[in-house]
Amino acid sequence: MQRCINIECGSEFDLDERLYVCARCGDLLDIERTGVLDRDAESLRALWRERLQSRDARDRSGVWRFREFLPFADDVAVISLAEGNTPLYDATRCADYCDLASLKLKHQGNNPTGSFKDTGMTVAVTQARKLGMRLVACASTGNTAASLAAYAARARMLCAILVPDGQVSEAKLAQALDYGAKVLEIEGNFDSCMRVIQELAEQSSLYLVNSINPFRIEGQKTVAFELAEQLGWDAPDHLVVPGGNLGNSSAFGKGFRELLGHGLTRKQPRISVIQAEGAAPFARFAADLRAADNEAEFVAEQQPQTLASAIKIGAPVSWKKAWRAVRESGGRVITVSEQEIADAKAMIGRDGIGCEPASATTVAGIRKLVGDGFIGKDESVVAVLTGHLLKDTDYVIRYHSETLTAPEHDAPLRSTFANSISRVAARPCAIESVLKNLS
Ligand code: F0G
Repeated sequence: MQRCINIECGSEFDLDERLYVCARCGDLLDIERTGVLDRDAESLRALWRERLQSRDARDRSGVWRFREFLPFADDVAVISLAEGNTPLYDATRCADYCDLASLKLKHQGNNPTGSFKDTGMTVAVTQARKLGMRLVACASTGNTAASLAAYAARARMLCAILVPDGQVSEAKLAQALDYGAKVLEIEGNFDSCMRVIQELAEQSSLYLVNSINPFRIEGQKTVAFELAEQLGWDAPDHLVVPGGNLGNSSAFGKGFRELLGHGLTRKQPRISVIQAEGAAPFARFAADLRAADNEAEFVAEQQPQTLASAIKIGAPVSWKKAWRAVRESGGRVITVSEQEIADAKAMIGRDGIGCEPASATTVAGIRKLVGDGFIGKDESVVAVLTGHLLKDTDYVIRYHSETLTAPEHDAPLRSTFANSISRVAARPCAIESVLKNLS
């Protein structure tokens, strides 16, 4: 069933009611299991392991392989692109950079459309199809758009995406166009797009699949299952995620809560959320709560600013669920500067991994959290990389050619780990003279 997260309300709704927020009080909705799961932890682990050998499309998906924890009957028509199954990398240079003994990076950019959104979208679009919807829609800083466009195409559904005019990377727009979505550029920022699409969703028959939709969170929570399995059915001490609209952190909170509840892991990780300094309403809220004895109001940021365009968000819809995840797990919410993001991103690249700018907030944040003693040097730490390096190549080229500037006042950023291109004559000796200076 769907249940309102507000404890004083707690209204319950059927899974097939097309709702995004509680029909009674307007708060967010969670999906909850009503029956009892008739398998213990050991038999679930064995079943999921067995499915790795299967050719069933659901078993090839890193999301649907864990379908005992998804709110569908066994015969539902699944819309899948074989999402999930993403690698967990050891990142040795990043570990040194953060002053950690080791650091693991869970690369959600290795999903079919290059971001973590696919793990939620397969579930949301499956639900849309089950409800018989014709048109699916979202507001987006680019990745949700690319992902929805692909899954809608697989389901042969119509798709509309609202993006802030001139603020989305070309790669993400190119994906949405290629997958056949109707792209609508809206004056204003992501928050303006979100506001208008929510209004529209109330009045019309389109199906909204932003992470306010609890089915998205169900899909994204399975990443916690995959990660726990990769760690030998354990949770790391710390899990660090970027924070934008705050769906991802909400989903990890729910996933690890369910894993622990079913005895699949023995602990939950501390979930910490990292925001860019110029787009940090959630970090400000957390700081206000600490300063004022747990009494603070959530205040949206009117003019969010960051070069990490994926997380340029001032009014995150899922902040209550994300706060629940941080509070329950004992995590932190902090900010990092544009300079810290840029350098951490270059360092992730040097590990041969790469990611888009928003994802690099994690490594920048971990470095800070180690610095102030919140993360111990020998603790197990996983950073979630949310998007692929090729999502924003303009940023990469500008960093390495030392032309990246901060979003406000155009102040130049330092390219601490710059890797510039050399123009060389087509002569072996000219090339050799460059190569001998390589370090
Ligand atoms: N990283 C990337 C690469 C993203 O695209 C996003 C969000 C986030 C982090 C933040 O995740 O919203 O769950 O806190 N992108 C959305 C979009 C808003 O429209 O693509 P979150």
